[in-house]
Amino acid sequence: MEIIESIAELREALRAKKAYSKTSGFVPTMGYLHAGHESLMKKAREECDLVIASIFVNPTQFGPNEDFEKYPRDIQRDSELCRRAGVDIIFHPQPHEIYQRNASTWVEVEGMTDIACGAMRPGHFRGVTTVVAKLFNIIMPHRAYFGEKDYQQLQIIKRMTRDLFMPITIVPVPTIRESDGLAMSSRNSYLSPTERQAARVMPRALQVARDAVDSGVIDVSEIIAQIEKCVAAQSMATLQYAVIVNPETMEPLRVTTGEARLLAAILIGKTRLIDNIPLIPKAAAPGSI
Ligand code: PAJ
Repeated sequence: MEIIESIAELREALRAKKAYSKTSGFVPTMGYLHAGHESLMKKAREECDLVIASIFVNPTQFGPNEDFEKYPRDIQRDSELCRRAGVDIIFHPQPHEIYQRNASTWVEVEGMTDIACGAMRPGHFRGVTTVVAKLFNIIMPHRAYFGEKDYQQLQIIKRMTRDLFMPITIVPVPTIRESDGLAMSSRNSYLSPTERQAARVMPRALQVARDAVDSGVIDVSEIIAQIEKCVAAQSMATLQYAVIVNPETMEPLRVTTGEARLLAAILIGKTRLIDNIPLIPKAAAPGSI
């Protein structure tokens, strides 16, 4: 496994490994890797001849008062995990390599970036789509792997590749969770032990919504009210948003009579947790009458 920091060297290595005539799989990450990232890499390993992972804490997707500086970093540990997962090349650039002097080009997906995380974090998705487009252009993979954990991000990236005719297949990978249901995230490392206990409210709130739908509730405002009640019962938690949307377009829904995705963000102390689940109404569930 090679760790490469410059674009020129990366392109040379890709040429030497004949990446363009084989099937190459790309896993973009911000590092501080865990089993969630690992499952993306393993899926890429199964499906591709060559696996490239990037580790880059992308400054442009962080707001001015967000955690860019203190975002956890550990390239030593990350490279061990990548090696275990069968990654061939790690691309680990410095910010000036990706954002050259006077860089002034942005990639922006409109509409579906306005709700949920997009509403809470202005400019965040513009940073994500811009860096992913740059990484796609540098690596030119055949396939790229994204976690359903960041569901809105996944849909935005799918839209971007479709709209810009990028010849890359976006492969979604299911969310990997801790045994108590909390979705794995690099930011979970911010949680103190008591906050970690309090964080269990997130999977609980999602379950409350699923139970409501299973019991026949279709009115979104009623489902959201039940989520609010569940989160309010945990004094360390604040609900930032809970929305039920069309799973492809991210348009908010008023009733869950068809396919729907619940997206939620909860603050535990200063740590922001996001998660999502599909909500399948009884009538749309496979096998139902
Ligand atoms: P990061 O948060 O490091 O996540 C990298 C990839 O791992 C994303 O596709 C994310 O959805 C996936 N992932 C994270 N936790 C997961 C989990 N518990 N289960 C399954 N997949 C999980 O997302 C980013 O970085 C950045 O925005 C990036 C796309 C790299 C652009 O900078």
